[in-house]
Amino acid sequence: MAIRSGPVPSPDRNTGSSNMKTIHTIADLRTALKPTRLSGQKIALVPTMGNLHQGHIKLVETARRQADTVVASIFVNPLQFGANEDLDSYPRTLASDQEKLMAAGCDLLFAPGVSEVYPEGQDNQTLVEVPGLSDLHCGASRPGHFRGVTTVVCKLFNIVQPDLAVFGLKDYQQVAVIRKMVRDLCIPVDIVGVPTERAGSGLALSSRNGYLSADELAIAPLLQKTLQQTADAVRNGATDFSALEQQAQQQLEAGGFQRDYYRILCRDSLQPPEAGDVRPLVILAAARLGPARLIDNLEI
Ligand code: PAJ
Repeated sequence: MAIRSGPVPSPDRNTGSSNMKTIHTIADLRTALKPTRLSGQKIALVPTMGNLHQGHIKLVETARRQADTVVASIFVNPLQFGANEDLDSYPRTLASDQEKLMAAGCDLLFAPGVSEVYPEGQDNQTLVEVPGLSDLHCGASRPGHFRGVTTVVCKLFNIVQPDLAVFGLKDYQQVAVIRKMVRDLCIPVDIVGVPTERAGSGLALSSRNGYLSADELAIAPLLQKTLQQTADAVRNGATDFSALEQQAQQQLEAGGFQRDYYRILCRDSLQPPEAGDVRPLVILAAARLGPARLIDNLEI
């Protein structure tokens, strides 16, 4: 097992363990968490698909501040990938992920295999589906994606039984879908959203940025820049949202992106605002750049 580098943690109850355990089975995880639960400690879960970057680590740090025991999971969930998507090529980097999690103060890493999570096969798995929201935006571009996410996240919630779970607002619609699942199914887990961690260029950190060439990496920040310009236009009084969306799409295409979607929406419903709507807005965007599909968003 790797040793945590850097300063020796103080005995404060929220500094986490320097001795993170990696667990691969549901039974072992339940055994490991039993004393924690019985002693009334607060448990936080940070679900991930691994290949961790500073955005993921920010989630772990947030969990560390809000709970006594931090559990991270790494599982590249086949159920949320479409047939032509990057399931096989998705980067799997367990050893370096373990080091990063340990340095961030994670106590337990749950890293199950596919047959542990789907022992009766993916086609035989009971599914959890959030209606409506799951079919919009990213859900329209990636049919079945959110059903795969909610099914695995619901399973992880039942396996770990955390008090709270931490998600990144980079995947804005994912957080909205999970919040609705938790409400609809009365799951007693608080959902905490963490702002997007970015590179100096403004590009949102993502495991999929690793698919980009140097040239594409130079283009990629245009997505965030375009979101900022649209937000500025709205703040300055522009009201023709479909014209703003069109301009943004054209700017992205001129810059080398291929269009997916770009929408100004109400934050609460993720539906377009009606005339005279005063609800707070968010812009959600997805666009392809070479081999990668990038998503980003901006609350106005
Ligand atoms: P993954 O893409 O690995 O992301 C794990 C978590 O990290 C998600 O909550 C995501 O929103 C957050 N995250 C990713 N990039 C971030 C950034 N730049 N700043 C802040 N947070 C960021 O999202 C998934 O995995 C999966 O769908 C999962 C929820 C684990 C279910 O399989």
